[in-house]
Amino acid sequence: MRTFCVTSGKGGVGKTTLSINLGIAIAQTGRRVLLLDGDLGLANLNIMLGIIPRLTIHDLLRGQKTLAQIVMPTGYGLDLVAGASGIAELADLGENERRNVIRGLEGLTGYDALIIDTGAGIGENVMRFVLAVDEVVIVTTPHPTSLTDAYGMIKTILAKEPKPLKLLVNCVASSADANRVADRLSKVTDKFMNGTLDCIGSVPLDGLIEKSILMQKPHLILNPGAASAQRIRDAALRLLDIRHQNPGSNLGRFFQKLLGK
Ligand SMILES: Nc1ncnc2c1ncn2[C@@H]1O[C@H](COP(=O)(O)OP(=O)(O)OP(=O)(O)O)[C@@H](O)[C@H]1O
Ligand SMILES: [Mg+2]
Repeated sequence: MRTFCVTSGKGGVGKTTLSINLGIAIAQTGRRVLLLDGDLGLANLNIMLGIIPRLTIHDLLRGQKTLAQIVMPTGYGLDLVAGASGIAELADLGENERRNVIRGLEGLTGYDALIIDTGAGIGENVMRFVLAVDEVVIVTTPHPTSLTDAYGMIKTILAKEPKPLKLLVNCVASSADANRVADRLSKVTDKFMNGTLDCIGSVPLDGLIEKSILMQKPHLILNPGAASAQRIRDAALRLLDIRHQNPGSNLGRFFQKLLGK
């Protein structure tokens, strides 16, 4: 199984929208995908999917349910672990809660990809998800403040762990726009941080995406023929094409990394 997290320096750049649609694109390749809402401040994946969760990650942490019990089908070919807003820092979880999560893994098998939508910024929870996964997708828009915050995020991640990072440029006006952003960020990452930043693509600014949020249905389902939908599918394929695969990766190891002190 491969584990991914979708994150950003600045908020509101499209992480949740892209997590859902990348997840659907990966599911459409025949892989089994689990989507986890890792935004522990303001969980809203389920809102964008138009789902009212009966159980959330909260029930797992309290040990009342296993992970297998809180997983919900979305109807879009991928499953969801809904988040709960206002959970304490993962670092502050007690030994019991930690054990509940690890134990909750039993019985949950068969996924090819785990995609985690995180909150923005370099807070403790986000960094834990970032360091626990195999692949980190950083989302930015061409906006200067988003770029600056993406730069800060990359720097913080690489200072903790030299891992290969992926970039996805959202809300672009043109492909020249996207290339400019990718070039700038890759250059500084190479030169000053000794890291690598692989741009997996860009997604145009598209009113249909905004509309899909209002309709609480994924863009790839509502508008599969849109150019922006194709760009998301292209990015998903690029994301899957990883030369340095990690065959030893599994859910248990991921959660141990996530919750371990
Ligand atoms: N390519 C796009 N074209 C047009 N609108 C977009 C695009 N991508 C995202 N949006 C819009 O931007 C808004 C923010 O998106 P989203 O909630 O996915 O961002 P986020 O990074 O998850 O935010 P947060 O940091 O608050 O979690 C949404 O209203 C969404 O419709
Ligand atoms: Mg979000």
